[in-house]
Amino acid sequence: MGSACSYASALTGLKAETVRVEADIASGLPKFLIVGLPDTAVNESRERVRSAIKNSGLKFPRTHIIINLAPADVKKQGPAYDLAIAVAVLSAHGHFEEPVKLADYVFLGELALDGRVRPVRGALLTAMMAKEQGFKGIVVSPENANEAALVKGLTVYVVETLEECLDGLADGSMTKYKAPKMTAADTTQGDDMMNIRGQTQVKRAMEIAAAGGHNILLAGTPGSGKTMLARALPSILPTLTFAEALQITMIHSVAGTLEGTRALVAERPFRSPHHTSSGTALVGGGAWPKPGEVSLAHRGVLFLDEFPEFSRVVLENLRQPLEDGMVTISRAAGTLEFPARFMLVAAMNPCPCGFLNDPGRECTCNPNQILKYQQKISGPLLDRIDMCCEVPRVDFAKLTSGEDEETSASMRERVQRARDVQTERYEGSRIHTNAELRSQLLRQHCLLDEESNNLMKHAVDKLAMSARGYTRVLRVARTIADLAGVKTITAGQIAEALQYRPKVSSRG
Ligand SMILES: Nc1ncnc2c1ncn2[C@@H]1O[C@H](COP(=O)(O)OP(=O)(O)OP(=O)(O)O)[C@@H](O)[C@H]1O
Ligand SMILES: [Mg+2]
Repeated sequence: MGSACSYASALTGLKAETVRVEADIASGLPKFLIVGLPDTAVNESRERVRSAIKNSGLKFPRTHIIINLAPADVKKQGPAYDLAIAVAVLSAHGHFEEPVKLADYVFLGELALDGRVRPVRGALLTAMMAKEQGFKGIVVSPENANEAALVKGLTVYVVETLEECLDGLADGSMTKYKAPKMTAADTTQGDDMMNIRGQTQVKRAMEIAAAGGHNILLAGTPGSGKTMLARALPSILPTLTFAEALQITMIHSVAGTLEGTRALVAERPFRSPHHTSSGTALVGGGAWPKPGEVSLAHRGVLFLDEFPEFSRVVLENLRQPLEDGMVTISRAAGTLEFPARFMLVAAMNPCPCGFLNDPGRECTCNPNQILKYQQKISGPLLDRIDMCCEVPRVDFAKLTSGEDEETSASMRERVQRARDVQTERYEGSRIHTNAELRSQLLRQHCLLDEESNNLMKHAVDKLAMSARGYTRVLRVARTIADLAGVKTITAGQIAEALQYRPKVSSRG
């Protein structure tokens, strides 16, 4: 009776692979089978395809239909194969009077029962694959068009319904998508630092953290403005490069979290998962592996408010991504990797009641409670946080004074300059920021003059600082020097960096 073949794609991590959708129609009892390692969503595709074809005013072939998804050893997941399957079935059944070159296109879309084409995850990656494999075009739903159009040199065809797709294929009239001109990114993001009164020292710490990409812990009494400060952080982060933006878009495309109609992500992500989040939600995984919060925060900020309230087991999951900038998820079928280079911002109270060390109010916790509270954050995790900053309560005079505070825009200028210095310095190496400096590079780039060397020696001896603590101070000092625009780190800069050593636990 007939056979036909169309193309779709399978996603594994941040990789898309071509999948051949082969349809074979034979005489026999009516049956509709899908083989080739499909998951449940792919299997349910049979019902959607059947209804969509019927509701498009066509006859669904009442014969023996087999769909083979090749290669058979790649796991096929999700509803994205619907469109390719429907086209292959109809083509095999002789729907097209003139021969149509289905092999020119990659079909990407879920079908609604009424025949509409729905958006799916991973359009950007599929489009990149299509371009690489030399396909002429990609056929997608209107919602996925902008994303697919990011790939230059590939024609994007938009179809709203299955019927439109079939008609377009038959007479070569499919709508070619014209991507709108991308407008310049709107740079104001997050709250403006200007609205936060006082807190000069904390703002300085945030500026250093933003410039060098350092992880930072904010500790302070309730209502002192920790959450507010963290939310204002995106407004002073350096602009995204195109390569960074493309990578972030790929991650969000796979996760299905691209917002609005803008194709390329234009802003650094700011993710603030709730403290009840599970380990999988945080680092990624699941039956159909998806990037977690750490990957969604790639090249942006992961804000963990009420830090000690997160379960310890969940927090321990952060250790690998914090170290490697990457999450590795092991599956029976092999390992998957998602990038996860983010800036961790954590906020906490110093004790359960929140008033430890507060000059104006007595703390009501007993030492045991305080210890237990602080122990919720493990030493190894704290070790990966470069900067700790106390957020004091602002007094009434500051809060109500009419003095102008510095705007985010002007802080951002300094941050950008310091980041540009780093970009230039680390060109050709694998790292981007001072926060990623390790042993060899650390020695090479953190040159101390004699005075600062003496101060550092004194600090290591007198404060019993660990080797890790030492490198942490050096990294932060490097950023402070970059903000000041100097090559050799001075004693004053070391002294400032020493202030940001963790006070929550007594380590390093
Ligand atoms: N420096 C400040 N300038 C202006 N308003 C402030 C400042 N600090 C705090 N506020 C006000 O106090 C509110 C509470 O601040 P925020 O939620 O950031 O506190 P917090 O430190 O996160 O408290 P908690 O420990 O309870 O989470 C803010 O919404 C803001 O209105
Ligand atoms: Mg808060």
